[in-house]
Amino acid sequence: MDKNREQLRELLAREDFSEIFERADTLRREQVGDTIRVRALLEFSNYCRRSCRYCGLNCRNPKLERFRLEPAEIVETALAAREAGYRTIVLQSGEDPYYTPEILGEMVRKIKPSGIAVTLSCGEFSREEYRYFRECGADRYLLKHETSDPNLYAGLHPDSTLEQRVQCQRYIKEAGLETGGGFMIGLPGQTLDTIAGDLLLLREIGCDMAGIGPFLPHPDTPLRDAAHGSAQLTMRAVALARLLLPRANLPATTALGVLDAKEKRSVFSCGANVIMQKVTPQRMKNLYQIYPASFEEVDIPEGRKRVEQEIVSLGRIPE
Ligand code: 5AD
Repeated sequence: MDKNREQLRELLAREDFSEIFERADTLRREQVGDTIRVRALLEFSNYCRRSCRYCGLNCRNPKLERFRLEPAEIVETALAAREAGYRTIVLQSGEDPYYTPEILGEMVRKIKPSGIAVTLSCGEFSREEYRYFRECGADRYLLKHETSDPNLYAGLHPDSTLEQRVQCQRYIKEAGLETGGGFMIGLPGQTLDTIAGDLLLLREIGCDMAGIGPFLPHPDTPLRDAAHGSAQLTMRAVALARLLLPRANLPATTALGVLDAKEKRSVFSCGANVIMQKVTPQRMKNLYQIYPASFEEVDIPEGRKRVEQEIVSLGRIPE
């Protein structure tokens, strides 16, 4: 689909979107099939050196109880996820300097021989560091651009720029890592035109994966009083992302499920083909408060079983 920004903005604003949802669903089936790819998500540290204004993990939030898993426990949990049937593990954290590139690389080296693909999602690093992760065997890296409007980006991220963010994504791509990007829907100050720009930026970066989720206000952040993003608009953006990036991996984001469990199911019929399931130890799961949410107590094998049942109930095939 060779749409320009103006056309995308118009599509997003349509009264009736059902035809585009259907096109996205058909294209998803043709291009990536009927499986839903399951990723284990291990959130291993909620320490963060950044102060992103929307995020509950930001270093200026004194209310959050912080935790860190030791590298040995991270490796052990990844191996338990492999044992339970997961084929990919996403290791995610705040930007926590405790985990040096050497430590992260060593964890990847220990996990990879078990035959599970490793995705890292630990923030911004240098070009050489991303290369090093690839050398250690990391398969993918997830780093969302968050918003494509440079001014909005600067206002929300007191310690970074959009340019720096996108540069990191290019380094990730260049290092030979599959590149996961994405952005939020409903950030205060965002317009449909911004979202059109977000969609085009995914394609420009060459994202192999894109997570698109609604913004959810966190009570202990400066954006506590802002409205949450719209589930409908999130689904529209996912459908258009499918049309722009036909073969991409597009998750139904956890944030969408927190906002509306029903919409998280429906997004699989408008372009999405990936789901993430937490394997974070129970005592930490509820401390990883990017946005307010609570997660039920379920061990790793049981979580895998439930996500497979959920996928089958949607008429799809767990992968
Ligand atoms: N609401 C929704 N998503 C958020 N993220 C961070 N804070 C919020 C929030 N308040 C998303 C960002 C980040 C990912 C890990 O979580 O897109 O990249």
